[in-house]
Amino acid sequence: MNRKWWQDAIIYQLYIRSFKDSNNDGIGDFQGIISKLDYLSDLGVNAIWISPHYESPMDDNGYDISDFYKVSKDYGTIEDVKELIKKAHKLNIKIIFDLVLNHTSDEIEWFKAAKDPNHKDHEKYHDYYIWQPPKYNGKGERVMPTQWRSWFGGPVWEYNEATNEYYLHIFSKKMPDLNWRNEDMKNDLKKMTKWWIDLGVDGFRVDASNHLEKNWDFPEGHPGYENFSSIPKHHEYLEEMGTEVFYPNDVFTMGESGGASKEEAIKYCGFENKEFDMLIHFGHCWADGDWDNKITPGKWAKGKIDVKSIKHSFDRWFKMLKGKGWNIIYWHNHDQPRVLSHYGNDSEYYNESSKMLAYTLYFMPGTPIVYQGEEIGMTNVDYEDLNDFRDVEVFTEYDNFISLGATHEVAMQALRDRSRDNARSPFQWDNSVNSGFSEVTPWMNTVKNYTEINLEKQRKDPNSLFNTYKSIFKLRKDEMINNGYIKFIDIDNEDSYTYINETENAIFLIVANFRNFDISVYLDINIENYINIYYNYSVRELTKNIELKPYEALVFKLNK
Ligand code: NOJ
Ligand code: CA
Repeated sequence: MNRKWWQDAIIYQLYIRSFKDSNNDGIGDFQGIISKLDYLSDLGVNAIWISPHYESPMDDNGYDISDFYKVSKDYGTIEDVKELIKKAHKLNIKIIFDLVLNHTSDEIEWFKAAKDPNHKDHEKYHDYYIWQPPKYNGKGERVMPTQWRSWFGGPVWEYNEATNEYYLHIFSKKMPDLNWRNEDMKNDLKKMTKWWIDLGVDGFRVDASNHLEKNWDFPEGHPGYENFSSIPKHHEYLEEMGTEVFYPNDVFTMGESGGASKEEAIKYCGFENKEFDMLIHFGHCWADGDWDNKITPGKWAKGKIDVKSIKHSFDRWFKMLKGKGWNIIYWHNHDQPRVLSHYGNDSEYYNESSKMLAYTLYFMPGTPIVYQGEEIGMTNVDYEDLNDFRDVEVFTEYDNFISLGATHEVAMQALRDRSRDNARSPFQWDNSVNSGFSEVTPWMNTVKNYTEINLEKQRKDPNSLFNTYKSIFKLRKDEMINNGYIKFIDIDNEDSYTYINETENAIFLIVANFRNFDISVYLDINIENYINIYYNYSVRELTKNIELKPYEALVFKLNK
C-alpha cells in the first residue's frame, strides 16, 4: 500500500461548541475555528476532527441530527464550512467531519413521517427506523418489548401512540436508531456522505459504527447491550459504505468500536480491507473503575488505576495490527473525563503528571489524536450545581444514583469525576473574562482555574505543557515516530509505564511512574549511549536500576 497522509498525521479533536465563539452568542462556531487555525498549525497538528456540525436540536450536542445537509445555526453557514476547508488546506491541515449513521434526531423529516400514519410519506419512512409492538403483562397492561437499557441510562424503547408501537433508541429518546436493513435508507445515507465529500472534506470519523446492526429477534436481556453492539452483520454495512463511498472517493475514515477480536480489528482497519482506515477503540479508557460499586455503578465509580491494563490494551492493538493495519493512539475524547484529572493528578503534581502523560502517550507508534485542551492541561469541571451540567446523560444518571441510594454530594462527585461534560468546558485561551472563549456567558461554564491554566500564559513559558506538546509533535514528525515498533518493558509492573519505540533512525526509551509515590524500576536492557531528552524533574543518566519520584517520567534517545 502507498503511504497515506493520515499515517504521518497528528490529529486534533476539536469540540466546536467549546473551542472559540466568534460572534458572542456564547457558542463556539466555524468562524471561531477559522480564527484559530494559525494556533493549530503552530501546535503542529495537520488534521482536525470536528464534532458534529449539522442542524440539530442539540439533545446530544449535535449527535442528534435533524438535517444532514444543513449546518447548525449555532455554528455558522455552509459558506463558513467552505472557507474553513479552503483556509485549512492552505496550512496543510485536513478536515475530518463526524458522520453519524446509527441514528437521527426525532425532529428530522424522516422520523416525523415515520411516526405519523397520516403523513403522506409514512409508508416509505416508517421502515427507516426500528419498531416493535407492545407486550402485555398478566394484568393486561402495556409493557416494553424488552428490558434493554440505553447507553445513557433508561430504557431503549419509547412508545409512539399514533402507531401503537415502540421505537428503538440506544442513546437518548430523541435519537431513534436507523434501520440498516432498509435499502432506501442506506442509499440516502450514501448520497448524503458523498455530498459532503464533494464539498471538499478529507475524512470522517464514523460515530457508533459497531451498533448499526441489531438483534431482530428482540430477545429479553438486561441491559442487553449484546443485542445492539458488534453483531457480525454490521461489518457488511461498513464494507458496503467503504467500497461504494469511502474508498472510491479516497476519503479517510476512522470508525468507533468498544472492542474487537483480532479478526474483527483486521476487518475494521486492515490495510487490505475496505471498512475504515483506522479504528478508535476504548480498551485503555476506563482503567480505574470500581466495577462493584452499586450506588454509582458502571463507569461512574472511581477505583485504583490499573496501569497494567492500559499498557496491555495498547500492546494488544499494536500486536494485532502489526504490519496488517494502522493504529490510533489517544488518551481521551469528548466522552471521557480529562486525562490529567483522570490518570494524572490535577493538584499536587499538576506539572509532573501532565508531562508524564504526554511522554507516555506521544512516543508510542500510531497516529495520535490530541483532544482540545489536553495540550494546555485542562482539568475536569468544578461545578457545584447540577444545573451547571449540560450533558443529557448526566440527568438520567443523576436520578439513577439517587434512586440507588446516593446522596446528592456523592452523585455530584461522580459527575465531576466521570461525566462527559468534564471534557466539554470552554477552551482556556487566556485569563480574560470567560477564558477568552466568548465575551458573553458561555453555553457551559468555564472552569474557574482558567486564570492560572490558559494558553496565553503557557505560550510564554518554554517549559510549559503547551511548549512540551509542540516540541514533541515536531520531533514526532522529524523522527517519524508514528512509524516505529514498540516493545513494552516489564509490562506487568503495576506502577511503571516503560517501553522502547524503535524508528528508522533512533530508539526512544520511555521510563515513567504512574503513581503519586516513589517507585524503582529495573531495566533489563542494554543501557549504553542513551541520552535523556525529556524529563519532568531534572535531567538523569540512564542506569539499570532507576528510582522514580511521583509521576517522574524520562524520555531517552539512542541514535542508530
Ligand atoms: C459516540 C459519541 O462520541 C457520543 O458523544 C455520542 O453521544 C454517541 N456516539 C451517540 O451519537
Ligand atoms: Ca458563536
